[in-house]
Amino acid sequence: MSETIRFPKGFLWGAATSAYQIEGSPLADGAGPSIWHRFVHEPGRIANGDTGDVACDHYRRYADDVVLMRELGIGAYRFSVSWSRVLPSGRGSVNPGGLAFYDRLVDRLLDQGIAPSVTLYHWDLPAVLDDAGGWLNRDIARWFADYASVVVKALGDRVPMWVTLNEPGVVSDAGYLHGVHAPGHRSIAETPQASHNLLRAHGAAMQAIRAEGGLQAGLVVNLEPKYPASDHPADLAATRRADAYMNRQFLDPVLLGRYPEELPQIFGQAWPTFPQDDFTLIRQPLDFLGVNYYTRNVTCDDPAALPVRAGRVRQEGKLHTTLDWEVYPAGLTAVLTWIRDRYGNVPLYVTENGAAFDDTDPDDVDLVNDPLRVAYLRDHLLAAHDAICLGVDLRGYFVWSLFDNFEWSAGFAKTFGLYRVNVATQRRTPKASARFYAEVIGSLGGVLGR
Ligand code: FCB
Repeated sequence: MSETIRFPKGFLWGAATSAYQIEGSPLADGAGPSIWHRFVHEPGRIANGDTGDVACDHYRRYADDVVLMRELGIGAYRFSVSWSRVLPSGRGSVNPGGLAFYDRLVDRLLDQGIAPSVTLYHWDLPAVLDDAGGWLNRDIARWFADYASVVVKALGDRVPMWVTLNEPGVVSDAGYLHGVHAPGHRSIAETPQASHNLLRAHGAAMQAIRAEGGLQAGLVVNLEPKYPASDHPADLAATRRADAYMNRQFLDPVLLGRYPEELPQIFGQAWPTFPQDDFTLIRQPLDFLGVNYYTRNVTCDDPAALPVRAGRVRQEGKLHTTLDWEVYPAGLTAVLTWIRDRYGNVPLYVTENGAAFDDTDPDDVDLVNDPLRVAYLRDHLLAAHDAICLGVDLRGYFVWSLFDNFEWSAGFAKTFGLYRVNVATQRRTPKASARFYAEVIGSLGGVLGR
């Protein structure tokens, strides 16, 4: 039996990107280097030696790219501002050339009827601030708030939706614990300090956005439901630790004003004593929470995986993306309802959801066939709709990503786009998933057959 699903009126349909992943021209018009610019030029850091030097050349092609967005029919575009374009030294004097790019982009979006959704930090810290300690320096809360003020002052009259940080958990975990993202540190002791300063910076930026009259403001986190691999007590305990580390480490302080009790156990000697006042700063009221959802995790005890001591049990026989992430749509319903149950009915957006699959069609086709991505998007939209039916206040959904782009340490080989981008020719080619998404958006604001 086929059933027709209808999303609520006013549901926001969007697509997402981030500055370093698509812009290229990282040092243009007076911009300073970011930690990602520095990191990708260190040998061996990125698959295939790829860099974001050119990427999708969006810095120069933004005007045409916005036309593609209009053709797709999206109502909102989530992008990030590069801190070191706006403030090449991280603080102090503003670089008008850098700010002007975002000013033009915002105007172009509005001109095409698309609402800008701006993320202030999607991982590209000004390199000079890293030299001053980066996320390990408590002063970064003030640096970030000052930067937020500059951007909101310039664009706040035209931007309805602000995000402070994208996925702070990935910044500390990949950047300070595992060393696979910039700045490439591997330190159990630094990890909770970086996380805590990210939280303080989020709080300080929320205050700055409000002070400048910014409209809606919130935080974006990445969540993964954790399921125990067995009912063995060691696996159950590992599942609780993994859940605390990934899903509650940031949301508990922001929404409840405290850390989950598992964290001091996880970090042991490395867990600092934080000043109580910090939690007042961190716990700023949010207008919304953004959730990035890709996969779930089936968790086992793994004493070698320090400090959390939790491992992943791969679900053999199940479909996985090329990043080896299990396709598990029901996990999206699970995380959305979990937020409501634990933290109350905060307005939510799915700020990222999508899949890396290899698109094998030759380069000269006019439409790239990507049936696995179409199925992924359809099934996750249905899962998002299930959450709405269960009473979750879900207001919108952004596909990751508009374009095939620079997928961090994996380089360009892992493709998530609704549009293929050939980095050599800069040709953009729509995929069947772009057509599918346009049809969903175009059908009276979101109708889908189950
Ligand atoms: C998220 C990031 C985004 C992209 C997707 C695949 O963690 O926010 O930049 O890399 O994963």
